[in-house]
Amino acid sequence: MANPGHIGDVPELYQPCDLMTFKPFAPAFDTRCLLVLDYGKIRLNMEFYGLAMPVEMREMRREDIPRVMEIERECFPTPWHESAYITELANRSAYYVVACKDGRITGFAGMWIIMDEAHITTIGVARDSRGEKIGERLLVGLLEEAIYRGAKRATLEVRQSNEVAQNLYRKYEFAPAAIRRGYYTDNHENAVVMWIDDMSAPTWRKKYRTLKQELNCAKVTDTPTEDVT
Ligand SMILES: CC(C)(COP(=O)(O)OP(=O)(O)OC[C@H]1O[C@@H](n2cnc3c(N)ncnc32)[C@H](O)[C@@H]1OP(=O)(O)O)[C@@H](O)C(=O)NCCC(=O)NCCS
Repeated sequence: MANPGHIGDVPELYQPCDLMTFKPFAPAFDTRCLLVLDYGKIRLNMEFYGLAMPVEMREMRREDIPRVMEIERECFPTPWHESAYITELANRSAYYVVACKDGRITGFAGMWIIMDEAHITTIGVARDSRGEKIGERLLVGLLEEAIYRGAKRATLEVRQSNEVAQNLYRKYEFAPAAIRRGYYTDNHENAVVMWIDDMSAPTWRKKYRTLKQELNCAKVTDTPTEDVT
């Protein structure tokens, strides 16, 4: 569905690039800069797209839980119970976010901050919204908050067979550090424990900044992509 101000409405020729530094909780109004190549001449074209954030990220609220549970059940063979989210939202060490597209929640993610470590507890995207960079935006939203709260390291567990999620984590330089044998109760699959060892390292920060810039310039489509699980 087309949406006024949606970056997907920009003609294919133009590659929009957000001039602002990435903020997971971006303001509603946004100015974008389009570099237009026109018959060999270069002109800089500032355009205003009104309500521009196609994917809004915000902290999860209690009233979000029913929709989060729908996505949770699509994502995980052993979904958390609703009460787990209620408990998590009251936990001061926890941080949970949702991603909304066209006003509808399409993904969620969460973590605990323990001392200087971010422990990512969950990340899930609705089946019909996968492959649209929503998972990556959610991960960046968590990492951004983790850094803001002083975390130096980040960790998570992922099913050994979950190549899609591992690709996402490897992209941000989570590296496998250990195997938890038979960790998952439904099929006794192994968990791979992954870590970013030092989020304050200049090399990691540089790569992270580049990835954030690329993500901020990424086109968000309205077209559902194929299931990636
Ligand atoms: C894992 C998950 C959150 C990814 O979210 P997504 O919005 O579909 O992924 P994105 O579009 O943001 O893609 C980000 C990166 O993930 C990886 N990825 C995404 N889809 C992929 C696919 N079909 N095949 C391989 N890698 C893929 C890539 O590294 C991609 O980066 P790239 O586009 O530069 O290649 C989503 O697939 C999901 O909810 N899966 C079910 C729940 C789950 O497994 N959660 C993780 C538990 S540890």
